[in-house]
Amino acid sequence: MPREGFLGTGAPLSADVTLAIEIAMGVTLVLGMLLARRQRYRAHAWCQSAVVVLNLIVIALLMVPTFRSQVAPKIPARLARPYYAVATGHATMGCIAELLGVYIILAAGTKILPESLRFVRYKLWMRIALVIWWLALLLGLTTYAHWYVVPKHSSLTGSRSLPAKVP
Ligand code: HEM
Repeated sequence: MPREGFLGTGAPLSADVTLAIEIAMGVTLVLGMLLARRQRYRAHAWCQSAVVVLNLIVIALLMVPTFRSQVAPKIPARLARPYYAVATGHATMGCIAELLGVYIILAAGTKILPESLRFVRYKLWMRIALVIWWLALLLGLTTYAHWYVVPKHSSLTGSRSLPAKVP
């Protein structure tokens, strides 16, 4: 039985930790954008890159394992259920956001990519990435709500203090 989290929702500790880290990273990206507005481009680059790399670790260690064990085996059979639909939508948007973040780091901060694969409209792509990232974050919050907070899950698991893992 996993250790219970600190938010009092009955979610496991790993989910509450993920939630807190992801919200902090979402806010940090917005603060990083403000750095760029103030033309502090070096600080902006470090800030956004740190978030993208840290998020890669969180995704690999905390989210992918849960997705593989809780969601993937039930796709496509149970995709119509909100429990799986929201998590799948979130995972899809999260993949796009993370890949776009990695691409921007490589294209804007390194010379690894060939000239033809780099972009010129930095601002536009960075804005698009921030919007997609926040959509992924909001879908992550929705996933958390569906899995651990929405009361109807209590009838599926028999207890609200248990994570609503297998409806
Ligand atoms: C920018 C990228 C991402 C952001 C901002 C993000 C954010 C979040 C947040 C805030 C939660 C709620 C906390 C929780 O329930 O643990 C969450 C949960 C989750 N995410 Fe992500 N996520 C991202 C990428 C991904 C990717 C790529 C996957 C696919 C493998 C994924 C799969 C999941 C799953 C399965 C959960 C539920 C985990 C659990 O409750 O144990 N996420 N995410």
